Amino acid sequence: TYVVTENCIRCKYTDCVEVCPVDCFHEGPNFLVIDPDECIDCTLCVPECPVNAIFAEDDLPEDQKQYTALNAELAKKWPVLTEKKPAPADAAEWENKPDKLKYLER
Ligand code: SF4
Ligand code: F3S
Repeated sequence: TYVVTENCIRCKYTDCVEVCPVDCFHEGPNFLVIDPDECIDCTLCVPECPVNAIFAEDDLPEDQKQYTALNAELAKKWPVLTEKKPAPADAAEWENKPDKLKYLER
């Protein structure tokens, strides 16, 4: 399965949702997650993310491994998003900032 990682937090560009053939992205207030039970590993979403936040589960950097469980947990809670929407007004300021997990809104 594919996993959305920390760099999506407060960026949430949503380009990824448009290409997913199985509509497995779920949207929270400032982050998106992939439902691991629906993802078919097509890889289409990976190059769409402007901040490279999406990884194959097996290729996750060591400090992003916790996002596998977080995607599974939050996909159950949050609604599906299938169409691109405007990113947060300050999204560009948050690109590649470290330690964004503390800003995750649930
Ligand atoms: Fe959707 Fe394919 Fe990305 Fe999985 S890898 S989330 S199926 S676009
Ligand atoms: Fe997040 Fe990248 Fe999608 S910032 S919403 S994973 S395009």
